[in-house]
Amino acid sequence: MPSLAARMARARPSAIMAVAETAKRLKAEGRDIISFSIGVPGFLPDRHVYEAAHAALERDSGAYGSNRGREDLLDAILGHFARLGLSGYERRHVATSVGAKHMLYNLFEALCDPGDRIAFAVPYWTTYLDIADIQGLTVELLPCPAEQDYKLRPEQLEAALAKRPKVLLLNNPSNPTGMVYTRQEMAALAEVIARFPDTWVICDDIYNGLIFDGIGYHNPLHVRPELRERTIVVDSLSKTYGMPGWRVGFMIGPAEVAEAIVKLNSNHITSLPEVVTAAAVAALSGPQELTARKCAEFAGKRDRVLAALGALPGIRCPRPQGAFYVFPDISGCFGKRHRASGRSIESDVAFCETLLASEGVACVPGSAFGEPRAMRISYTVEDERLAEGLARIASFVSELG
Ligand SMILES: Cc1ncc(COP(=O)(O)O)c(C=O)c1O
Repeated sequence: MPSLAARMARARPSAIMAVAETAKRLKAEGRDIISFSIGVPGFLPDRHVYEAAHAALERDSGAYGSNRGREDLLDAILGHFARLGLSGYERRHVATSVGAKHMLYNLFEALCDPGDRIAFAVPYWTTYLDIADIQGLTVELLPCPAEQDYKLRPEQLEAALAKRPKVLLLNNPSNPTGMVYTRQEMAALAEVIARFPDTWVICDDIYNGLIFDGIGYHNPLHVRPELRERTIVVDSLSKTYGMPGWRVGFMIGPAEVAEAIVKLNSNHITSLPEVVTAAAVAALSGPQELTARKCAEFAGKRDRVLAALGALPGIRCPRPQGAFYVFPDISGCFGKRHRASGRSIESDVAFCETLLASEGVACVPGSAFGEPRAMRISYTVEDERLAEGLARIASFVSELG
């Protein structure tokens, strides 16, 4: 057989999906599994979104669509960013994609040549590293441990940008940590970014509608609008609109970058489907209450998770203020033995595997996100299942000695 491309030796399937698959298999075998593994919002969009999709189906043109995105969708996206305090853009500054993941893949390709350096914080969303590796980029990881609340510090950013990476990738709120930058923290980072004009900035802000405690959504462009000429903001309907399966992502940024994405679209996907486009327009320009309601619900769940974890020995958890994840440091449990199974908990992977096998609770080991001292809990499950899952984690930890 002829060989695959060399880049495929660097391609990995998603580590998060692997945990989710194991949980699914155990469930199929009849085990009562509570999955805190996959990052899904756990709610569906409102009626008006489905009605728009149905109506679009009725008047289906059967045609290919625009490589950039249909004009009413581009306008809805402009309106969405204006609500986020990013106004003054035009259609030529927008491009669409099959989810934010696809947009990030395209942006890396549009901005970087193989060997170019891309810098981002650790813990990171697994896919950043996976895409960078497939595309042969040099990755500069910026360690942000629990001791610094998993957030980038200005001096650390300065040292990284001094090496002139082609791209700086920011993620706020963060997956996997749920951390959110305050306006002051973001202003300090933006000050540093402004001093290094050779670096593109990609802001993956897809959780921007899920921020708690009144902290607000802050982006470098809010504090330094002159960064617009080299900053791209990526967003999607997946998390904040309860539409991960609809696969709608988009960006706003310099017209040249949007044009590059349009060019890639013309060679990959051609366009978003018509029905999906109609649903996306309805979601972005219709009533926005659902996201606000879910945000309040998630803040309550976050509190319950923190209260439960705070009572457990060996577990320490910085307080997340957004998204729907907590990322506890579990390293205080390493070196102990799980009495019931006899298994020694020498790592995050052993912790998560033993927790799943003994209590039927699926969490993702932190090493999937570059932080092997932690694990990720995605807490969007119903309240009753959340309480049950947390009780099982407590029972698991009480068995460690
Ligand atoms: C930080 C972050 N960026 C991007 C994505 C991709 O989202 P989408 O479903 O829009 O591709 C995810 C999904 O988990 C994410 O957590």
